[in-house]
Amino acid sequence: MSSWLDTALDRFERDNEDLALATHRVLARIATDAPLHARLLNTLSMLEHLGSRKIVATQSSAGIDEPTLRHVAEEAHHAYFMKRQAQKAGGRALEYVDEDLLAPAAARMYFQRLEAGMKRTLGATRATYLYMSMIVEFRALWFYRLYQRVLRETGHRLSLKRVLGEEQNHLHDVATRLDAAGEPTETRALRFLAAEQRLYERLLAAMRAEILDLAPSPSSAVRRRIGVSA
Ligand SMILES: [Fe+2]
Ligand SMILES: [Fe+2]
Repeated sequence: MSSWLDTALDRFERDNEDLALATHRVLARIATDAPLHARLLNTLSMLEHLGSRKIVATQSSAGIDEPTLRHVAEEAHHAYFMKRQAQKAGGRALEYVDEDLLAPAAARMYFQRLEAGMKRTLGATRATYLYMSMIVEFRALWFYRLYQRVLRETGHRLSLKRVLGEEQNHLHDVATRLDAAGEPTETRALRFLAAEQRLYERLLAAMRAEILDLAPSPSSAVRRRIGVSA
């Protein structure tokens, strides 16, 4: 199993090289702007919360096992942790409402479309939960590593060490359980990863568009300098 996962992780890195550059740029811009940074953290909190809710909604049978309960607890803790950091960065209370989030429609769509695609292939089965978790963990681990790097580069003291450790455990755990169930099949995993990448690209594009919207355009700065209102 670990060799499948190692190979898949290497391939994920390679397939996402361009996206890593683009993500780094977006994160570097956000991390140097406290109100924007608060909204990013609040969006991450919402995604973690949605993740934990999805596990509860799909796995609450009498047979719910210890690893699954641990998974729910840790994702819920990530939601709390990100919310706490968001409110610290913003200096105010933030809700999961559009004005407190970054690219909220694309963020919600990310989860919904990914799950819908898997359900079309696998139905509402345990395999869907495991694949969904595994694919999301690939992205979470990749994203949080990049984000940790940006935090360091921009002089933030916020550490994602615990979150990163837990996401890594989730990935190993679900991959091992898929393996025990005779999955993941290479074609299936590749297809889901490709679908996830398209959804992530959309989310990143939506975030970038929102940031660019906020930046004063040169023409308005020039207009201000010469004292002409738009
Ligand atoms: Fe998480
Ligand atoms: Fe996780």
